Amino acid sequence: MKTKALIFDLDGVIVDTAKFHFVAWQRLAKKIGVHFTEKENEQLKGVSRVKSLEKILKWGNKTISDELFHQLMDEKNKDYLNLVYAMTTDDILPGVRAFLDAAKADGHKIALGSASKNAKTILNAVQLLDMFDVIIDGNQVTKGKPDPEGFLKAAEQSGYSPEESFVFEDSIAGIQAANTGGMTSIGIGDKSTLAEADYCFKGFLELDYAAFQTLETKLNINTL
Ligand code: BG6
Ligand code: MG
Repeated sequence: MKTKALIFDLDGVIVDTAKFHFVAWQRLAKKIGVHFTEKENEQLKGVSRVKSLEKILKWGNKTISDELFHQLMDEKNKDYLNLVYAMTTDDILPGVRAFLDAAKADGHKIALGSASKNAKTILNAVQLLDMFDVIIDGNQVTKGKPDPEGFLKAAEQSGYSPEESFVFEDSIAGIQAANTGGMTSIGIGDKSTLAEADYCFKGFLELDYAAFQTLETKLNINTL
């Protein structure tokens, strides 16, 4: 079976925004007297804004009113967006642009499967909006990662089955979503953190399009 739909997470896969989320959440957490580590931050990757704040409050044993909860989410998002607005094409992660160009030229459907409600703003800032045939972001899903809802929608709207789809993800929750959804999961990042991924690469310099084609051919032969 030829794998046809390529579903990309956004933050930490296409663009280097994972570090902005970390900075903005840490600044907010500090204000309410909660401290969390880079290791704990792995649990926030891929997870919606609401769930992220719930986790942070749990780590700090804090209970707050709904009103303050919404205020804090807004505050974090404003802080995060100030970092995003300064982005340019230079913030596309290394090798990504060449990979997307080659994959598209080779006839793959290019889809986004992101938890972010800011996805279109970010793609626009780095001039990649037109690259995507399908965009599923935080505004189109009711269940966040690790639920596969977003990836299933992305595969369906690309016109392919989950088995015909690859998911590229930097988060543990996203890899679990891809695995549950029946796609081939490709971890982008650290192998030990993303141990549940079917395959793992440091980034799109290691996984350039030629390396991807080798992997695709191997998989297609194995599933014939
Ligand atoms: C994911 C990020 O892509 O989007 C998470 O990995 C983030 O860190 C989530 O919380 C929601 O993003 P946003 O931009 O809607 O707050
Ligand atoms: Mg991510």
